[in-house]
Amino acid sequence: MSAYIIEGGSKLYGSVRVHGAKNSALPILAACILTNGECVIDDCPPLRDVEGTVRILRRLGATAVRDGDTLAVKASALAKNDIPDSLMREMRSSVIFLGALTARYGSARLSYPGGCELGPRPIDLHLAGLRSLGAKIVESGGGIECSAPDGLRGCDISLSIPSVGATENIMLAATAAKGRTRIFNPAREPEIVDLQNFLTAMGAEVRGAGGSIIEIEGGKPLHGARHRVIPDRIVAATYMAAVASAGGAVSIENVRPADIASVSAVLREAGVDIRESQNRIEVASEGRLKSVRPIKTQGYPGFPTDAQSIVMSVMASAQGTTMFVENIFESRYRHAGELIRMGADIRVEGRVAVVSGVKRLYGANVSATDLRGGAGLVVAALGAEGETAVGDIEFIERGYCGLDESLAGLGARISKR
Ligand code: UD1
Repeated sequence: MSAYIIEGGSKLYGSVRVHGAKNSALPILAACILTNGECVIDDCPPLRDVEGTVRILRRLGATAVRDGDTLAVKASALAKNDIPDSLMREMRSSVIFLGALTARYGSARLSYPGGCELGPRPIDLHLAGLRSLGAKIVESGGGIECSAPDGLRGCDISLSIPSVGATENIMLAATAAKGRTRIFNPAREPEIVDLQNFLTAMGAEVRGAGGSIIEIEGGKPLHGARHRVIPDRIVAATYMAAVASAGGAVSIENVRPADIASVSAVLREAGVDIRESQNRIEVASEGRLKSVRPIKTQGYPGFPTDAQSIVMSVMASAQGTTMFVENIFESRYRHAGELIRMGADIRVEGRVAVVSGVKRLYGANVSATDLRGGAGLVVAALGAEGETAVGDIEFIERGYCGLDESLAGLGARISKR
């Protein structure tokens, strides 16, 4: 396992470009198997989780050729409809292939997905959605067999929780279902809209993403398409938090400010200067920040759970007390224990974390416990006094491409060991 060594206290200056969104790229790559035609995906960076998805595509018999951040996928000769346990364990989002494979083949065999560090993450809504579309699902010995011998049929599906993954799985399967599918209470995340845009470019009839009902007219012939993945809003939020923590002035390029308005609002309230234009956010921060009103994680457009740890690292050294309420995942405060090693004053009780800002954090040996928690530790280390070693950065590399190089380009003292 590798580590980032960060000497805190250097202010950040310059500009940094945000890469394509991991959470968009994964379902879009799964959607590539819906057609024989070639799909070209731009701004699809070689993140660990993207490369894991590419391994699954290749195992299924698709070709995937990378040229920089562009990935060309052709699934004309799909040979398999099952994904072995070893690949499924690499990341939880591999479950997205259930809907895509069932749409393409009428059947799929997967094991339960791995990659979960955030407490129990059931997939009951994914399975119930596919069953409503007419799929038969048998779960046994850690495996899931999904088949639709008579084809999938469009129907109305109401999600009790607006699950991102379940919404995507149902959208993918519904493109092959006969007739119209309506998803009520779907996730409204920008990544869902991105998936709709890609499916539409492939010839599917999908509308309503981003709103309260998504409609899919199934059974349209799908063809290859070219698509640019939207910028990663959580990576953008990470750079904003990095400037808030270390101080300085940075221009963040290739970002859609509306996608992270809830994070900008919190950082502004804390005293960070944020200026937005069409594809850019300019962030400047100096002096000690102040605490903010309670931060409650919610589905989009609320405050994203993926930014909770990142902003907690900022509030750990702000003046005053900030309360966090984690409403999406049960155990998403493991980074708090690591921040405490750096001198933070944080009390966690169930879904609530109370962060009393200390004057400064100190360098320490800490470990990433999950992707965003790890990014939060990097943010904290940039503003801390002395040297921090953030271990287990493989978690961070699941969703950030060259984070150390980008931060070093802004003047951070960071190296990889
Ligand atoms: C996606 C994102 C992840 C983000 C999360 C919430 C990807 C690859 N990952 O994860 O970065 O943190 O959305 O914004 O896009 N749930 C059930 N049953 C289900 C499905 C979900 O109870 O069948 C629950 C989960 O346990 C969780 C909540 O619903 O408490 C939200 O999960 P969901 O939106 O499905 O998250 P993911 O799609 O896994």
